[in-house]
Amino acid sequence: MLTAGIGALVGAIAVIPGLGLLAAPLRRAIVRGAGQPLRVAAEQDVKPQKPIRVTAVGEVQDAWLRLDHVTVGSCWLVRATEGAPIRAFSTICPHLGCGVDWNDKTGKFDCPCHASSFDLEGRCLSGPSPRGLDELEVSLDTHEVLVRYRRFRTGSPKKEPIG
Ligand code: FES
Repeated sequence: MLTAGIGALVGAIAVIPGLGLLAAPLRRAIVRGAGQPLRVAAEQDVKPQKPIRVTAVGEVQDAWLRLDHVTVGSCWLVRATEGAPIRAFSTICPHLGCGVDWNDKTGKFDCPCHASSFDLEGRCLSGPSPRGLDELEVSLDTHEVLVRYRRFRTGSPKKEPIG
C-alpha cells in the first residue's frame, strides 16, 4: 500500500511538469485574423449605389496552430453617393445568421430565410431581424479598403461581438 502511494507520488511529480509544458500555449494570447484590419478591395471598385460583396482573408492563430490565408468572413461594401465614405456591413443576417444578398432591382438587402430586408444604410425595413445589418469598421490605406471583420450574436436587438 505504502509502495503504491510512493509510486503514485513519484509518477505525479514526473507528469505534472509535462502537463504544464503542454498547456503553456493556452496561457498565451490567442491572435486571430478576425478583428484585424484586412485588405478587401480597391477603393475605386466601390461605386455609388452598387454594393459589392468581398471576402476578408487573414491569418488565424490559436494556442497550437497558425494558418495563413483563411477566410474569416465576408461583408458588403457600400458607398451611398459619389465621394461618400465607404461603409461595410456583415453579410450575416442578425436574425438567425443566413447570408443577406443585395437586390439590384429593389435597391435593398434581402435575407432569403425569413424575408428580412435592409436599406443601403443597413437599417432593417421589414421582417423578423431584431436589428439592422452589423456595420464593420472600415479604413483606407493608399486607396485600398481595409475592414476589421467581426461576428456578432444573432437573435438579439443588441449588437454584441462574439469570438
Ligand atoms: S435569418 Fe434572416 S430573416 Fe431570419
